[in-house]
Amino acid sequence: MLAKVEELLKEVAGFKTSAPEEIEQFRIKLLGKKGEVTALMAEFRNIPVEQKKEFGQKINTLKQAALEKVNELKLAAVNTASSNHGLDLTMSGQPFELGARHPLSVVRNEIISIFNRIGFSVSEGPEIEDDWHNFTALNFPKEHPARDMQDTFFIDPEIALRTHTSSVQVRVMEGTEPPIRTISPGRVFRNEAISARAHCIFHQVEGLYIDKDVSFADLKQTLLYFAKEMFGEKTKIRLRPSYFPFTEPSAEVDVSCQLCSGKGCNVCKHTGFLEIMGCGMVDPNVLENCGIDSSVYSGFAFGMGIERIAMLKYQVNDLRHFFENDLRFLKQFKTAY
Ligand code: PHE
Repeated sequence: MLAKVEELLKEVAGFKTSAPEEIEQFRIKLLGKKGEVTALMAEFRNIPVEQKKEFGQKINTLKQAALEKVNELKLAAVNTASSNHGLDLTMSGQPFELGARHPLSVVRNEIISIFNRIGFSVSEGPEIEDDWHNFTALNFPKEHPARDMQDTFFIDPEIALRTHTSSVQVRVMEGTEPPIRTISPGRVFRNEAISARAHCIFHQVEGLYIDKDVSFADLKQTLLYFAKEMFGEKTKIRLRPSYFPFTEPSAEVDVSCQLCSGKGCNVCKHTGFLEIMGCGMVDPNVLENCGIDSSVYSGFAFGMGIERIAMLKYQVNDLRHFFENDLRFLKQFKTAY
């Protein structure tokens, strides 16, 4: 019996493996319910009394040694596995491609930076708007046909997806003492059929400047500065009379065509100019609706579609490209912005 224990002790001492399943087999063989140690314990009552003490101690030593061995091997196995996860850490890395900003973000950031340089801050507001901020405060009376200018997605009669970021400017005017100089970039929604020139979701930057003695000349100079910064020093602008409920007088702004430098081509339909935004002097009603004294303050506002500016700047001929996430298109816009 003692010889058997000695033999097992040697086996335990000499056992080595890092394979978890072999460690487990070893544990079961020695320490399992039907294992060697249990079998030896069962033999205990057949041992002559004078040998019981020595035999008992030997079994305990064996049991202890087997336990320690199993724990030690398990620990070693876990350490090797977690230190390299079975990977070859000397292998060289996989090259990965740098991403690029979306062209609409590039253009939006550029517009923001151009206006930041002349003191405009950035303001943002909710995409789900109430009737007051999207329409009524902006001088669109209820039932007024001008509401049809912007096909609206209504959530209920009082709540809609904003059709322009002018709604943000109402919020700014309501909460700020003039002077106000801010631009509002953001996503807007109109119930329009999707085509090469229109989408039901698009992006705008609208600008607002309110102070004492702000004039139409200030508006024109601000827009000329913007056009030159955006499209180049030689760019000219042209203002055509137009109508918006919230501005009076109102105008449509054109820039000289980038392709033909104003000489006339297919893109500008031989006019030499391309439309880029709407603008005007803020209607006194709008100022009063927002708690600003129109006898003291005046202001101008303008609003442009980011997609439109991006199409002109990068000569993209279909607005849908911006929303389809085709990598062949997006990869062309790796820039520093
Ligand atoms: N809010 C107008 C639009 O969405 C644009 C605009 C803004 C026009 C400010 C004039 C002044 O079309």
